[in-house]
Amino acid sequence: MTGAATHLITNIGQLVTNDPTGPGDGSPLGIVTDAAVLVNDGRIAWVGRASDAPAADDATSVDGAAMIPGFVDSHSHIVFGGDRAAEFEARMSGTPYSAGGIRSTVGATRAASDAVLIERAAALVAEMRAQGTTTVEIKSGYGLTVDDERRLLMVAGELTDEVTFLGAHVVASEFENNAEGYVDLVVGDMLDACAPLARWIDVFCETGAFTPEQSRRILTAGASMGLGIRMHASQLGEGPGVRLAVELGAASVDHCTYLTDDDVAALAGSNTVATLLPGVEFSTRHPYPNARRLLDAGATVAIASDCNPGSSFTSSMPFCIAVAVRDMRMTPAEALWSATAGGAAALRRDDIGRITVGGRADLVELAAPSYLHLAYRPGVPLVRRVWKDGIL
Ligand code: NIG
Ligand code: FE
Repeated sequence: MTGAATHLITNIGQLVTNDPTGPGDGSPLGIVTDAAVLVNDGRIAWVGRASDAPAADDATSVDGAAMIPGFVDSHSHIVFGGDRAAEFEARMSGTPYSAGGIRSTVGATRAASDAVLIERAAALVAEMRAQGTTTVEIKSGYGLTVDDERRLLMVAGELTDEVTFLGAHVVASEFENNAEGYVDLVVGDMLDACAPLARWIDVFCETGAFTPEQSRRILTAGASMGLGIRMHASQLGEGPGVRLAVELGAASVDHCTYLTDDDVAALAGSNTVATLLPGVEFSTRHPYPNARRLLDAGATVAIASDCNPGSSFTSSMPFCIAVAVRDMRMTPAEALWSATAGGAAALRRDDIGRITVGGRADLVELAAPSYLHLAYRPGVPLVRRVWKDGIL
């Protein structure tokens, strides 16, 4: 945009709005062909057929390309020091993934300056943006002291509004034989210092991380400080985490790789989103979650990158969509919805993840005639231009 009051994006061959009740085809993706979108002051002011478009102060043609809502990546851990390429290499030769790898990133993160942390996280946000992500949630969790967790949240807050306190990522090594002492710290001084810097609280509820009892204590303490609840659960095996997330009214429970029938039923009967993280199974060689089972039961499913140096060092939502379609039994339409509107639901946002009047003008132009190409052409850089709040 050039600062004009109204701006028309036009000659859109295929527009995915995610608005089934809007001017589109009535499907969940709300597809409008030969479309245009009017942007005013960072918001969508009008959506419809290009031939019906209102007058605007200026216009951009996308020459028949497909456009989609910006991706909403509702799960990332991008504030960290070091990397774990050697751990990945070992994994590809048969060493299993374990939650303990997180501690090596904690050491590198504590050793990194604020300036290095912000520079590296900002570079990852830019990498995400270039691949179509216009909203990203960012967690702490590689500090595990009061000062380091606060530092990571301050960096995250420079880059997004969707900041999550994950002091309960693993038990800090200083508390190796005193997990309850670490939980006391998390719900005490750490939460006091961190809650004002975050919107959400998260816990890794898994064998090797936190028990359901510890997770409940941490999440309810966070909620009492005004934080919304999210959770990591059932990544490495079945467990009670998913049902606990539903019971506590979590906005989202993430991973959901190993689900029981009761977990699926609980998710389907709730407004807790099941967020699937295809990059994790890809990068850990774990079996993929069965998205079909969740969708057929009626659960709301999101897809996110989980960008982090251990289990999933991808920043690419198109990659995640391609894997979800190929290996998690999602249709291309379901995968795109989950990576946009699904992510918005996981963040309890209704102003993003769809292209509707009044919503944010977060839009992606694809170098393709159809959104199908996101899964059909895996690994190909199909994101041509990205508008965030109406600005290119
Ligand atoms: O979401 N599961 C816990 N946390 C991250 C992994 C972080 C790491 O391995 O460093 C995840 O996969
Ligand atoms: Fe994670």
